[in-house]
Amino acid sequence: MSRVSPATRVRGVRRGARDQRWPRVLWWVVLLVGLAPALWLAGRTAGAFGGLGVNPIETLVRDSGTYTIILLLAALAVTPLRRLTGLAPILRLRRMLGLLAFGYATAHFLIWLGVDLFFDWQLIIEDLTTRPFVMAGFAAWVILLLLAATSTRAAMTLLKRNWTRLHRLVYLAGILGVVHIVWLTRADYREVTLYALALATLLGMRLFWALRTPRKARGEPARNGAG
Ligand code: HEM
Repeated sequence: MSRVSPATRVRGVRRGARDQRWPRVLWWVVLLVGLAPALWLAGRTAGAFGGLGVNPIETLVRDSGTYTIILLLAALAVTPLRRLTGLAPILRLRRMLGLLAFGYATAHFLIWLGVDLFFDWQLIIEDLTTRPFVMAGFAAWVILLLLAATSTRAAMTLLKRNWTRLHRLVYLAGILGVVHIVWLTRADYREVTLYALALATLLGMRLFWALRTPRKARGEPARNGAG
């Protein structure tokens, strides 16, 4: 016979339901916070909240780029945060934050293509082949596109262990994103220094943990063939 009283069992069930509810609530809160800048920018484009200022195109490109790097860094922060806090459910935020970063990067890219360069393909190709900061940004966007296209469960099943290897490219996208911003910054490096420091910290943490964990425990074959 069970020694657990019915009241204790009911409390346990309630606690279980609460434990399952908070990750879902957090997911929705983070999604709404992640979408808020898009709504804010759309509202300003429509003339609300004081509009886009004296140089609307510059504001659109700059702000969409800023939201891209912030969300990309947020996506990169999920795994270290999970490791530091032990809260496994927050891993569910990673895919959503990555897709939001891709969404903002695509908006940034389209604003550049359509609003800044009026889809003038000659100018676009010239920019893409002669301006290194545009090349770096474009390369970051192509990586994010690849990762977004393979972010489904079906792609995960199909690619098996290669999926994890492929999705490590998100670090390269982060590096290229920061390089892009460093390259185009002409004065006041304070903001980009913050991005670079955040990225270096996140990458440093991942590298530190990767070096401390034996290859076998990470599910990778040992390089000397010893198992
Ligand atoms: C992960 C991808 C990307 C990130 C994180 C990113 C980030 C940014 C940020 C933060 C800015 C504003 C910098 C500032 O003025 O303070 C910016 C500007 C800009 N980005 Fe991106 N970007 C990305 C991809 C791209 C792509 C794909 C293109 C086009 C191919 C692009 C073209 C530009 C241009 C033309 C500017 C304006 C440069 C200027 O002010 O003269 N970016 N980007």
